Amino acid sequence: MSDNPEVRKGLVGVVADTTAVSKVNVETNSLLYRGYPVQELAALCSFEDVVYLLWNGVLPTPEERERSLALERTHRDLGDRLMGVIQRLPDSTHPMDVVRTAVSVLGGEDPTAWSHDPEEIRDKALVLIAKVPAVVAYIQRHRRGLDIVPPREDLGYAANFLWMTFGEEPPETVRKAFDVSMTLYAEHSFNASTFTARVVTSTLSDYYSAIVAAIGALKGPLHGGANEAVMRTFDEIGSAAKVRDWLDQALAEKRKIMGFGHRVYKRGDSRVPTMKASLDTLVAHYDRPDLAELYDTLEAEFVARKGIYPNLDYPSGPAYRLMGFDTELFTPIFVMSRIAGWTAHIQEQLASNALIRPLSLYDGPGERHIPGYVASAGSAAAATRQEEVAG
Ligand code: COA
Repeated sequence: MSDNPEVRKGLVGVVADTTAVSKVNVETNSLLYRGYPVQELAALCSFEDVVYLLWNGVLPTPEERERSLALERTHRDLGDRLMGVIQRLPDSTHPMDVVRTAVSVLGGEDPTAWSHDPEEIRDKALVLIAKVPAVVAYIQRHRRGLDIVPPREDLGYAANFLWMTFGEEPPETVRKAFDVSMTLYAEHSFNASTFTARVVTSTLSDYYSAIVAAIGALKGPLHGGANEAVMRTFDEIGSAAKVRDWLDQALAEKRKIMGFGHRVYKRGDSRVPTMKASLDTLVAHYDRPDLAELYDTLEAEFVARKGIYPNLDYPSGPAYRLMGFDTELFTPIFVMSRIAGWTAHIQEQLASNALIRPLSLYDGPGERHIPGYVASAGSAAAATRQEEVAG
């Protein structure tokens, strides 16, 4: 290490590795999954196709889609042991902690949890893609004192999750908006939770440990927890008429306005227009122009004052609220989707592994010694210390 190394706090601007999973292009304000623009995937493909693409590098053929869907559909029930564990958690447990615990339980149940074989990791991941929605649906129903709704194999991923959560088949507008949100949340290069998953994987730990750690990273309000925080902000403000006064005070208190800003995008998040279009369809479907007005007013005011643009959590928070989810469920829903990206990165890390272990620049106290300590005979430090103690 040089005498005067540059410290990049928060690893800002550091290129930690190469990746073929996705490309965030700040100049063109675009996001590609395995080369495909995310807007095209959201418009024309299902989340199931996107999962396949992220893990295999290509979109599925009809036969491949059928095989993968069939496998996912067989794992959609919670299972007795997992159900038993999450039922024993206190009701006060945050849904993210329930999901994190559920993944640990699934890891504990898997006799090949340690396997780093790419095929076996894909199978483990597909089980999580199927089971985590069942956990999230269970949490939502339990919070409302409702019985569990068994999964339906005749429904696709998004429709089945909404069915298990609300006990009715969703209207197409709602199903599509949810599916779009899943596609948009699926992957975003070396974000904090994905990097966490890669760090854990780089120690050659197991797949589940990497996912559990990633869930922990995603929970924070500067990362995935922002979609929940956006909704709390909306609730706190109340209505469009109150935005200006609320913002005056929030900025005077130097508060971060949740759902705005991004470490990489500085001129707007490439995913926002697609999610905003879905939010618009939901606003029309549920006839909630008041929510749209609050959304637009806060965005316009904040962008005008700070020049900081919304990120994906800004439209997705209100979209999940309109669909009927409790706020605490928003980040667990993000987990359901991001398992896809985490898994692709875990596979990529394993395929070309190097232990991730950066350096630090020490700025603590200079060397000092505990009086009375006698180092091994003969060392210079021992001689000096003997003199100090004697003195
Ligand atoms: N509200 C208010 N000010 C913000 C802001 C926000 N949402 N986002 C950035 N800023 C300001 C910072 O206060 C800072 O101002 P300063 O230079 O006067 O101190 C400046 O913009 C740079 O912000 P910083 O936090 O250093 O940038 P970053 O790249 O480290 O942060 C985020 C990126 C995402 C952590 C940050 O924008 C943020 O906290 N956003 C809110 C949480 C959120 O929506 N997270 C989801 C991200 S997808």
